[in-house]
Amino acid sequence: MNLILLGAPGAGKGTQAEKICERLSIPAVSTGNILREAMANGTEMGLKAKSFIDAGQLVPDEVVIGIINDRLKEDDCKNGFILDGFPRTIPQAEALDRMNVRIDRVIDIEVPDEKIASRLSGRRVCLKCGATYHTEFKKPKAEGICDVCGDNLVQRKDDMPETVLDRLKTYHEQTEPLKDFYEKKGILHIVEGQKNVEDTTALTFKALED
Ligand code: AP5
Ligand code: MG
Repeated sequence: MNLILLGAPGAGKGTQAEKICERLSIPAVSTGNILREAMANGTEMGLKAKSFIDAGQLVPDEVVIGIINDRLKEDDCKNGFILDGFPRTIPQAEALDRMNVRIDRVIDIEVPDEKIASRLSGRRVCLKCGATYHTEFKKPKAEGICDVCGDNLVQRKDDMPETVLDRLKTYHEQTEPLKDFYEKKGILHIVEGQKNVEDTTALTFKALED
């Protein structure tokens, strides 16, 4: 199955991508994780992306379109994939259409803006493998250590409250119109982001079957 996960910053795209990846054994492709890895490695793309990400803005379309175009050609995407964080603008969605990949479903995780700040302030991430935790809602087994790969967990710079407001504004202006775009194609499924991860996961899995 070829899937897109839509939703505001902190809605739980990365968290649900991990769950679907385990269940369907298809890779989760997160443009955010790819860009953060490039930043950590100090590549040219990472340096270019950093100023946009730190300011809560989107990285230019051509950069992320290029990333996805290359990534979807890799062998592990042949039997399906989960796109987490792409597309995020109408031009990105149109570029994806032109890549001639079939999209089966778009799952939009809906969480009101007022709940986003606490999700993001408590988030801790593993920069090595991309796993995501929360100090209250999804604790790692050992504090500060990734359950998956054992690396140290860190707080993302763009999870600071001022930047979160900018990311939400960017989301409403540029990404939310994609709901309409995919609704018109008849493939949009809405999942209400629940108070805990397990309940949201149950609704996500249901949306995969409906
Ligand atoms: P990206 O990394 O994609 O950030 P985002 O979309 O802002 O989304 P987040 O990763 O913040 O949230 P999420 O929905 O994955 O939530 P999570 O599961 O972690 O992108 C970062 C930046 O890169 C962008 O701002 C942009 O600059 C750039 N970029 C990336 N893609 C781009 C593109 N296509 N075009 C242009 N620029 C691009 O959950 C959040 C927290 O809540 C976690 O701690 C989690 O444990 C917890 N949680 C999750 N679900 C629940 C629940 N149900 N109940 C309680 N807690 C929960
Ligand atoms: Mg994420």
